[in-house]
Amino acid sequence: MNNIDLKQLGSATPNSSCLGKGLERYDMDDTNRLYYSVWGDSIHFGMKLTDDCTFDEAIMHTKRHIAEALQPLPGQHLLEVASGVGETARFFAREFGCAVTATNISDQHLAESTRRTKSQNLDSLVSNVWADFHDLPFNDGAFHGYWVQEGIVHAHDKRRVISEAYRVLCPGGRIVVSEQTTETRLLNDAETKRLADRHGSPDLLNADGFIQLMIEQGFNMVRDDNLSLYLAPLFEAIVQRIEDRYADLIKGIPAHIVDWNLDNWRFGASKARDGALGWHILVAERPD
Ligand SMILES: C[S@@+](CC[C@H](N)C(=O)[O-])C[C@H]1O[C@@H](n2cnc3c(N)ncnc32)[C@H](O)[C@@H]1O
Repeated sequence: MNNIDLKQLGSATPNSSCLGKGLERYDMDDTNRLYYSVWGDSIHFGMKLTDDCTFDEAIMHTKRHIAEALQPLPGQHLLEVASGVGETARFFAREFGCAVTATNISDQHLAESTRRTKSQNLDSLVSNVWADFHDLPFNDGAFHGYWVQEGIVHAHDKRRVISEAYRVLCPGGRIVVSEQTTETRLLNDAETKRLADRHGSPDLLNADGFIQLMIEQGFNMVRDDNLSLYLAPLFEAIVQRIEDRYADLIKGIPAHIVDWNLDNWRFGASKARDGALGWHILVAERPD
């Protein structure tokens, strides 16, 4: 199965107002320009960022780590939720010959992903589809694998997101969740509120919280890769990139938008150094 026929899948109503409060940034030109110029094509975390490993290499290490966890086979049909501009979806199609349905509720991210998919001649393998991960417009058991990177942090009902993942996976199908984790016991009330507002969700989970939800929904845990030591260097690299390019960035992007994001990434770096923020890649399987 390559492109999904949406008519057979029920209705999804594209509506960018569905982006939760605080998440409108993913549909704002200025913020997206900042993301594209600082993060690049992928807005996910990178592994092993050191003097010997560039930012782009760190991002690629993560994609390979996700692939190794998901174990995709040619011809399988995979689902990515919160797919950003689809760079990892195209990576799976290009490298493994999988069909990928890349889903998002940001109209701007979907439009950009569709443009890039066409220009890379991957539209026979990658479909870009509007879908809220709380309520997926797909049939039960439609996918062999499901992954999400730095997306569920935004979910206002994480239990429902995991339950939808379970429903759309076929028996034996794998889920890979890469996510920022939060130890709220290491944060004061103002810091907790700040993170919740930034994520557009009051629901800040640590790794055990995510694992518990996955087990509750019926998944068998395969592994929990704790990559937290890579998080502070990643945020610090983002901060450095903005500082280095600040004068140019504010020629095209309002300074208050650059400053607000810079301040949040500095905060992320310091809380990752404190151990209040972490990064885990969780791998689980729907039983046969
Ligand atoms: C930090 S970006 C990660 C993007 C992507 N995973 C990547 O690796 O580049 C978060 C993404 O989550 C998406 N998102 C937020 N809430 C969502 C929801 N309810 N359903 C689907 N996607 C959502 C945003 O539009 C954005 O594309």
